[in-house]
Amino acid sequence: MKKNKKIIIMNWKMNPVSEKEAKEIFIETKKVATKLNSTQTIICPPSLFIQGFTKNLKKGNFSVGAQDVFWNNKGSHTGEISPLMLRGLGVKYVILGHSERRLKGETSEVVNLKVKEAIKSGLVVILCIGESERDSDGRYLSFIRDEITKSLRGISKKNMKNVIMAYEPIWAVGKKSKRADNPENLFEMVIFIKKALSEIFGKEVAMKTLVLYGGSVNEKNTKEFLENGKVDGLLIGRASLQKEKIKEILKIANTA
Ligand code: PGA
Repeated sequence: MKKNKKIIIMNWKMNPVSEKEAKEIFIETKKVATKLNSTQTIICPPSLFIQGFTKNLKKGNFSVGAQDVFWNNKGSHTGEISPLMLRGLGVKYVILGHSERRLKGETSEVVNLKVKEAIKSGLVVILCIGESERDSDGRYLSFIRDEITKSLRGISKKNMKNVIMAYEPIWAVGKKSKRADNPENLFEMVIFIKKALSEIFGKEVAMKTLVLYGGSVNEKNTKEFLENGKVDGLLIGRASLQKEKIKEILKIANTA
């Protein structure tokens, strides 16, 4: 991945309900995204829509990803989707360990199994980490370090080039969020994440690993997160379903 391209992940979650609306948002996003040379936009729609979106997808600055994947490639796993199935459809990216999945019981150990299988199958993993609250005595930092260590256990230095970190503080994510993070705190967190990665994989890998931010990103805070928060890109939920916001965010990101 070219280091200076901003990575913009659009996480649609379980939206929109109709295929017609999904197509409309997809087409609008694609139209803007393909024209921007300094951003790499990745739409992660509900898995049912993936197949319809990966047809005629030229390689370049726009692609389709998945929101989750199973930790095995085939077999008796009712309801699951395999990394190889995604690869077969031309999917390159997968979000893993999103807080909404962790809140439903997905542990870092399970996330780790998924990370391993996804990388083995040739996917690039967008690994989400984030604390539920920011206490004043710094326990949240140990929590983040623990998520990183457990989710990436057994991953080789070489395979870290297929991992993108996404810092998403749970208190900033989704409709119930209190607020977005602020760029200054975010910058400190980026440094902390790199430090934790450096302890496991060494400085060189840590410096090369991209770190994104997610949580209440919108057209008003995009610029400051990218410029002052010093992240390599953004993971966007709600705003990624609103055509006008998408356009603005992408254009701002492209010049940030
Ligand atoms: P949000 O979601 O932008 O709606 O806060 C971000 C995410 O969950 O990835």
